[in-house]
Amino acid sequence: MAISTRFLVAVVGAALVVTLLATLLLREEGAAGGSAKKVWHAKEFTLAMVKPDAVRGGHTGAIIDRTETEGFEIVALKKTRLTLAQAKVFYAEHKDRPFFTALTEFMSSGPVVVMLLSKDDAVASWRALIGATNPTRAAEQTMRRLYGLDGTQNAVHGSDAVASAIVEGSFFFPELLSSLV
Ligand code: RTP
Ligand code: MG
Repeated sequence: MAISTRFLVAVVGAALVVTLLATLLLREEGAAGGSAKKVWHAKEFTLAMVKPDAVRGGHTGAIIDRTETEGFEIVALKKTRLTLAQAKVFYAEHKDRPFFTALTEFMSSGPVVVMLLSKDDAVASWRALIGATNPTRAAEQTMRRLYGLDGTQNAVHGSDAVASAIVEGSFFFPELLSSLV
């Protein structure tokens, strides 16, 4: 656990640096005839995951297909399985919530497919595509409405902020940390 804590501190530190850099990105939009015409756009990433219920249900292919149809670039992808300890680190923000045990046991119950995605406004775009946390409250045609089973087994995960995407992206794809920052 000590190693996990050090890892998290390191990644959160990196995320803070990224946030600072993002706020410093130049956005120069000169008027016609003006001096500077260059516009810089920060590339936004999000970390998406096909959760164990959707992998078991055979929905991985459909979810990946929809991901590309909706204009996300799949920067990295892998199938893996979280240990219970890794699930506890990944969802550490919820460690005091009553659903934490059910959540982490579920998340370590079988393989997951994780994807690092890129798109303009990737975080909000992906969250809109997957829908509300509880599939019964998710909008029609969202991934959770289509594939989720219940409030815990809800088919897909999405980062909730750019800083979280950096932390979560680094959790699964540490070799890409320099690309993320
Ligand atoms: P995620 O992090 O997985 O993308 O989901 P989320 O942001 O929509 O929801 P969050 O509040 O972060 O909850 C994380 C996951 O915990 C499970 N959960 N169970 N039984 C319950 O009341 C409950 N509430 C949340 C879900 O798997 C949820 O996605
Ligand atoms: Mg969340």
